[in-house]
Amino acid sequence: MDATEKKRIAAEASLQFIEPGMSLGVGTGSTVNCLIELLPTVRDMIDGIVSSSRTSTKLLEDHGFEVQTLNEAGDLDVYIDGADESTKRLHLIKGGGGALTREKVLAGASRRFVCIVDDSKLVGMLGEFPLPIEVLPMAQEFVSRQLLKLRVQPVWRERFVTDNGNHILDIHDMQIPNPVELENRLNQIPGIVTVGLFAQRPADILLVASDDGVREMRA
Ligand code: 5RP
Repeated sequence: MDATEKKRIAAEASLQFIEPGMSLGVGTGSTVNCLIELLPTVRDMIDGIVSSSRTSTKLLEDHGFEVQTLNEAGDLDVYIDGADESTKRLHLIKGGGGALTREKVLAGASRRFVCIVDDSKLVGMLGEFPLPIEVLPMAQEFVSRQLLKLRVQPVWRERFVTDNGNHILDIHDMQIPNPVELENRLNQIPGIVTVGLFAQRPADILLVASDDGVREMRA
């Protein structure tokens, strides 16, 4: 099975968590794009829908959904999104697509966070995928200097501006044995808007697609 087919079956498996009358949060990325293709099949069950990016909003609208703001929707019943890496404790790296801030807000506002990945994303330790950090443009150099003091390698994502008008810095070659602690530490640096570690609020359910089908993991 190729990666696209795995993403599709993971997305399909996540539909079981959508129940009648629910408000749904939709993430961003190629795995979520597979989900958006399938969402019309459960349209009648969805009471409200909120998205984590302009790209996903546009796709949802193309499929006939009226997308609400989180302010309009209130708390969400379920949030479905992909990830760049996950451990078996369901700690994640997210933000490869640059939508990490709104993704973290929607995950935080949701009663249940269902993460959909193919098996290449399941890792023993986070950090092989560069850790995205969203930064206020005026604090760009200051944040870089603070990170260099932590002996990590920050690389600016060139010509990339987030939906919030901010910049992204990717930290390469870092091993992350304690994601909760690192997330907390990086959150203390002024100018950092969002760290792409989802450890303080991990996923609740991870659906991992492989050649053998979709495996459900819980924290
Ligand atoms: C976007 C994200 C995505 O969830 C993550 O990059 C995974 O994307 P894909 O499903 O394309 O592999 O965090 O900001």
